[in-house]
Amino acid sequence: MSGSTPELPIVVLDALMPTTQRLVLKRRGSMVWDVEGPRGRYAVKVGYSIEATADWPAQPWTALAPAREGAVLQRLGIEEIAYGEWEHGTWNFQPWHEGPDLYRLWASCREQGSSNTPDASVALECAEALAELHAKGWAHGDVQPAHFIIGLERTHLIDLALARGGHVPEGYDFPFRGCLVHYEAPEIARSVLATGEAEPTPEADVYALGASLLISATGWRAVEYPDDAPRPVQRKAVADGRRRPVKVPGELGKVIDDMLSHAPEDRPTVYEVGKALGCL
Ligand SMILES: Nc1ncnc2c1ncn2[C@@H]1O[C@H](COP(=O)(O)OP(=O)(O)O)[C@@H](O)[C@H]1O
Ligand SMILES: [Mg+2]
Repeated sequence: MSGSTPELPIVVLDALMPTTQRLVLKRRGSMVWDVEGPRGRYAVKVGYSIEATADWPAQPWTALAPAREGAVLQRLGIEEIAYGEWEHGTWNFQPWHEGPDLYRLWASCREQGSSNTPDASVALECAEALAELHAKGWAHGDVQPAHFIIGLERTHLIDLALARGGHVPEGYDFPFRGCLVHYEAPEIARSVLATGEAEPTPEADVYALGASLLISATGWRAVEYPDDAPRPVQRKAVADGRRRPVKVPGELGKVIDDMLSHAPEDRPTVYEVGKALGCL
């Protein structure tokens, strides 16, 4: 895969017959494309396996992630999705959601000396998108600012590759080994350190929503550790609860602080978050 010009799998080309296609991102083991054709506009996710190098162990799960996400989206009743296999891994396509993500939308709040304050109604939309998933009995597992797309009509929570809550075909399943440490709840970080795996939960999603709102509004991570700290050191700081004070003004700051409570049982549910934000 490395070195060659990236291409869409032929089955995807046949299904979507692109009139325009744009590679949105390519990173180790995955590509995302923005594709338009007669059926409409789709995000196409293509996964392939990563072989071991001197610096990295092999990561066979990157090849499975798009099919796993496709199966989850199907379970959730999302229409206009498809998934399958190609020669190097699996793929899915799903409706394209137009709009900035949470981090980009709040960029002006993070500028030094800015008088812009984060808009609680946007925070409420993010909570509502997560609440919709929790109401269906699923936990997301990978809540982060880039996964909230703030559209004109509504906010979408994307990247369900790690979600837990219903049946996923065995051949496409893989264990949850944590997410981006900035958004990992202490109990998740602790479990990953102890066993290499963890269980996504609604409570951990609420923590991750709080950390996402905080970093998007202020640029600060919820927990203090050096930028270049190795991942286990970052996880240890999270597990130990080395929290930074939340410096977001007003009620929004109070709600974020509650979401970042160390013990999962002390955090509000996402419905309670929605209620609190709805009153701001
Ligand atoms: N349905 C979608 N609509 C619009 N953009 C999307 C969609 N799915 C993915 N993207 C874009 O691609 C990026 C990576 O997608 P993501 O689902 O997070 O994949 P990965 O598994 O590689 O993290 C997102 O941050 C977003 O910019
Ligand atoms: Mg992602």
